[in-house]
Amino acid sequence: MRWTGHRPIRGTPPVTVITCIDDFKPLYRRRVPRMFYDYAESGSWTEQTFRENTTDFARIRLRQRVARDMSGRTTATEMIGRPVAMPVALAPVGLLGMQHADGEVAAARAAEAFGVPFTLSTMSIGSIEDVAEATTAPFWFQLYTMKDEGFLAALIRRAKDARCSALVITLDLQIVGQRHKDIRNGLSAPPKPTPRNIVDIATRWRWGAGMLGAKRRTLGNIVGHAPGADDPARMHEWVAEQFDTTLDWDKVARIREMWGGKVILKGILDADDARRAVEVGADAIVVSNHGGRQLDGALSTIRMLGPVLDAVGGATEVHVDSGIRSGQDVLKAVAMGATGAWIGRAFVYGLGAMGGPGVTRALEVIHKELDTSMALCGYRDIRDVGREALLVPEGFSGRWEG
Ligand SMILES: Cc1cc2nc3c(=O)[nH]c(=O)nc-3n(C[C@H](O)[C@H](O)[C@H](O)COP(=O)(O)O)c2cc1C
Repeated sequence: MRWTGHRPIRGTPPVTVITCIDDFKPLYRRRVPRMFYDYAESGSWTEQTFRENTTDFARIRLRQRVARDMSGRTTATEMIGRPVAMPVALAPVGLLGMQHADGEVAAARAAEAFGVPFTLSTMSIGSIEDVAEATTAPFWFQLYTMKDEGFLAALIRRAKDARCSALVITLDLQIVGQRHKDIRNGLSAPPKPTPRNIVDIATRWRWGAGMLGAKRRTLGNIVGHAPGADDPARMHEWVAEQFDTTLDWDKVARIREMWGGKVILKGILDADDARRAVEVGADAIVVSNHGGRQLDGALSTIRMLGPVLDAVGGATEVHVDSGIRSGQDVLKAVAMGATGAWIGRAFVYGLGAMGGPGVTRALEVIHKELDTSMALCGYRDIRDVGREALLVPEGFSGRWEG
């Protein structure tokens, strides 16, 4: 099936018209085994935070302005000193290579061609080396801190050797929030050959055929790289045991020193934590609740963005993710004061539906929405967009007793 921005022409094969990110979903659902669709499309426990991440974005409105010159527009800017075509980065997402064969390489290439950063997850199928080999632009590497110090040091060294230009340390997953669907589905990479999985995959023959030719089908950064991590069947247990529950700010500072380059701290949702992140020398922080996958009941990120920005007071760059599904959402985040908006599911839907071209299409959709909405708000340059572009309901960040 081809995608197009236009209506199908009579006589041509059926065309999936992608007008917005949600248009990917029916195709994504048909193409990818249920287990991996559910893995992306879920939050922890009641999914309250997962839902509110998107509904709270919708509560903020944009201020329509008229009779302003909108010619010669640009969405180009910088994130941690890196030129970007728009203030968007691909967030680290585990198991991309299960959404589509060699999914990490496909997404990294699409991001590079578009001119936005790609972040490779520790929990990826494609390895650091695979992505480095397939791309020329430096990518960012996301680190989960592991108990095994030797393995941690080796991961950092591999990311350096691959010329990754920033280390993204994820702080909101020392213990995994429960996502009911993953338990029910028996999530694993690759899927176990149970009767249910066999039937499911048989109806997704394109996915299965792609996987047969994929370079890897299990966690490429880990299997064969850490003691005790040689058995793909035991990988998820190994990982769960390895997350470092003792992680604290001293260890964050130590990892920053080991890395020696730019560091982005991801998973900050609290003003006090944001101040600590500045103290340890973060080059940027990402206001994130892991897309509602960790602490269910936490506030949405767009609500917390203002208080975090106030706490940081310009001492470091503040980026945001969780719930961003459109260019309008990116515009709202930037107008609030974020330097960058990271997308997770918005590009995963595209990847699962159409592979690399789907990621490109997702970026195109978001860019067009961002550019047009920016113009209709009366701006020509994304770097000029500020709080005055927004209509924020009174008490939006809320008065929450601490
Ligand atoms: C399927 C899935 C897997 C993820 N895996 C990781 C990961 O390995 N490391 C990480 O730091 N964040 C991970 N995240 C969180 C994303 O980096 C990001 O914070 C989140 O997706 C943002 O929310 P959004 O999906 O609503 O855009 C994952 C998110 C999803 C949806």
